[in-house]
Amino acid sequence: PTVAILAGGLSHERDVSLRSGRRVATALRDRGLSVSVLDVDAGLIPALDRLRPDVVWPLVHGSTGEDGSLQDLLNLLGLPYVGTVAAGCRLASNKPVAKAVLRSAGLPTPDYAAFPQSLFREVGAQAVLNAVEARLEVPLVVKPASGGSALGVSLVESRDQLPDAMVSCFAYGDVALVETAVTGTEVAVSVVDLGEGPRALPAVEIVTEGPYDYDARYNAGRSEYFVPARLDEAQTRTVSDLAVAVHTTLGLRHLSRTDMVLDAGGTAWFLDVNVAPGMTETSLFPQAAQAAGDVDDIYVGIVRAAAVA
Ligand code: DAL
Repeated sequence: PTVAILAGGLSHERDVSLRSGRRVATALRDRGLSVSVLDVDAGLIPALDRLRPDVVWPLVHGSTGEDGSLQDLLNLLGLPYVGTVAAGCRLASNKPVAKAVLRSAGLPTPDYAAFPQSLFREVGAQAVLNAVEARLEVPLVVKPASGGSALGVSLVESRDQLPDAMVSCFAYGDVALVETAVTGTEVAVSVVDLGEGPRALPAVEIVTEGPYDYDARYNAGRSEYFVPARLDEAQTRTVSDLAVAVHTTLGLRHLSRTDMVLDAGGTAWFLDVNVAPGMTETSLFPQAAQAAGDVDDIYVGIVRAAAVA
C-alpha cells in the first residue's frame, strides 16, 4: 500500500512528531512501501487529494493529531487511516475525561481534580488553590489536561510550590489536571491490535535520575529503559491487563501506549494514554515493538490492518 505519514503540526510536540514521522517513514520504505511525509499545514488537503494514498498515518502528537481533529478531516476526505477514530481520540486525549471514564469502569487512577484557567479569573487564584488543597494532599502532579511529552508537568511536594506549578501548566494548556502523585515503578505498556484483538507488547520500565521530563525523554542516555520491565509474572499480568483494558474501554484502534505507575502493593495506576505514541529513537513504543519481535514488522502490520479497515 501507499502511505502518507502526517507529521509536524502546530502543537508543542511538533519536533517530536517530525522525528517520529522520519523514523516510521524510513522503516516502511525499507520494507518496500511507497511513503510520503506531509506536514499538517494549509497545503495538506490538496496534497492528500493529489496523492490519494491507500493509508494515512497521523503521527502528529498533542492537539490536532491526538484530539480527533485530524481524524475528522480524514473521515471527511474518505481516507483510511492508522489509529483510533475521532470519537476515541477525543476521549483518550482529554486526561480528566479519560480518567473519569476509566474510573467508572473500575480501573485504578490517582485522585484528581481539573481546573480551567478561566476559573482563576472568575474566583481568584487563592480560592482555586484553596479548592485544590481542600480536595487533594501533597505530593501532587500538575499537568495540562491534554498534550504530552511531560511539557508543563510539575511535581508539587509542598503547598507553596502549587502556584508556580499552575502557571507552568497554563503555559501549555487552558485546563490544569491536578492529581495525587503515586510512588512506584514507572511503566509504559503499548498495545497493538492488527485485527485479531488487542495484545500488550512487553512492558517498558523507565528509570531516571530526576523527573522523566522532555530532556529525559528525548536525549539518548538521559533515561534508562528495561524491556521487558523487571517485573514478576503477576506484576507483568497486572500492567498488561491495565493497558489492554484502557485500550478496549476507550475504544482505541490499532495501537496505543498507556503510561502507569505500579505501586509497592501491586496496583497499577493509570496515568495517561497516547493514541499517537512517540516513535523517536528514544521513544517507548518502538522499544516495546522491537522486544516483541521486530519493530518494522509491527509498523507494516499496522499499515496493512489500517488499509483493510
Ligand atoms: N506524547 C509523546 C509523543 C509520547 O508520549 O510518546
